[in-house]
Amino acid sequence: MNNKICVVTGANSGLGFETAKALAAQGARVILLSRSADKGQEALDKIFVATQNDQLELMTVDLASQASIRETGQKILDKYPVIDTLVNNAGTWISKHSLTEDGVETMFAVNHLAYVLMTHVLYPALRQAPDGRIVCVASDSHFQFKINYEDLNLTDKYHGLRAYAQSKGPM
Ligand SMILES: NC(=O)c1ccc[n+]([C@@H]2O[C@H](COP(=O)([O-])OP(=O)(O)OC[C@H]3O[C@@H](n4cnc5c(N)ncnc54)[C@H](OP(=O)(O)O)[C@@H]3O)[C@@H](O)[C@H]2O)c1
Repeated sequence: MNNKICVVTGANSGLGFETAKALAAQGARVILLSRSADKGQEALDKIFVATQNDQLELMTVDLASQASIRETGQKILDKYPVIDTLVNNAGTWISKHSLTEDGVETMFAVNHLAYVLMTHVLYPALRQAPDGRIVCVASDSHFQFKINYEDLNLTDKYHGLRAYAQSKGPM
């Protein structure tokens, strides 16, 4: 992974943090995407201390907002015409029904549509990489329910587990 350009969403905690750290330990240039600048900086500092990799960069994005994904995606593209790896990792779980500013059920927006849109926006750079990779973190829970194409926002009989399961469904 030496000098490969890797973008990791949800890099400030959990699996995203560990993935970013592992990539940094292997010499990659890692772009950490975080919703919060403070949490992202804290993660970047920890990864630097652990790996001494000085090719780490933090950018903020709210994956519940399609405008934010497009804006941050464009910033990445402006700086990096070639991207070797995109790890769509960020995910959320919300028990109560809510809609994003785009009018999409929040878990479906963050866990599903954001993966597709970030990939779409960064694709011009990903396809320039000799061996580009797109990794999408799923969940076994997607076996539990199929995507309800008739009512993607699950406005009828909303249930958090059902909404999470469909958000992790096949893309
Ligand atoms: N842990 C498990 O047992 C498990 C099992 C199956 C699948 N997964 C999947 O694994 C992935 C990582 O989960 P995790 O366990 O590492 O969870 P986590 O520690 O809660 O990390 C989730 C990350 O996603 C970010 N995120 C959430 N909503 C966001 C938004 N609107 N915009 C930008 N970033 C946002 C969070 O940022 P904040 O810190 O700002 O909230 C956090 O960095 C998820 O896709 C999850 O569905 C996890």
